[in-house]
Amino acid sequence: MSRNLIIYYSRKGQNYVNGSIRELSKGNTEIVAEFIQKAVGGDLFEIETVKEYSRDYMTCTEEAQEELRAKASPELKRYLDDISEYDNIFVCGPCWWGTFPMAVLTQLERLDFTGKKVFAVMTHEGSGLGGSEHSLKQSCKGATVGRGLAVHGADAAHSEAAVAAWAKKSV
Ligand SMILES: Cc1cc2nc3c(=O)[nH]c(=O)nc-3n(C[C@H](O)[C@H](O)[C@H](O)COP(=O)(O)O)c2cc1C
Repeated sequence: MSRNLIIYYSRKGQNYVNGSIRELSKGNTEIVAEFIQKAVGGDLFEIETVKEYSRDYMTCTEEAQEELRAKASPELKRYLDDISEYDNIFVCGPCWWGTFPMAVLTQLERLDFTGKKVFAVMTHEGSGLGGSEHSLKQSCKGATVGRGLAVHGADAAHSEAAVAAWAKKSV
């Protein structure tokens, strides 16, 4: 039986939902990551930055844009260093300026993906998968990148059936 790892980054606080700003107590990507685990099993690993991004949506977009521009590697609270026991890795994150937050890449670049199958999972407000699959091809050396899944962030709570069907087909 193949073993699954679900790596995710998700931000609580203000977010843009269907055209207006709303306060989220649980991030959209976290909801989707948990649906994947429920559907196919495996371990969850949450990426958390030492310096939290602002809960204020506009301020956060500025912080994220600056990190992207600077190709920053934000420090994480803890790192995953060994994924040798897994076969399938789901990399889940919100779309930030068209791709994964830099914190996701900070984590990915420490890992040896030789022989692994990886999948991009992106929650978004219109950009779909954006550059996430391209980003995985660049960051996950030695991995095969499978077909990813884009979930509209505002619909995350209602996406369980679609997420489960996709995840079961992927592993
Ligand atoms: C800093 C920032 C940048 C964003 N950039 C985009 C974007 O380029 N395209 C898009 O469709 N949504 C964008 N969004 C919306 C988020 O991708 C979307 O709300 C996502 O579901 C949030 O997931 P989370 O709650 O797990 O953090 C952005 C949100 C933030 C906070």
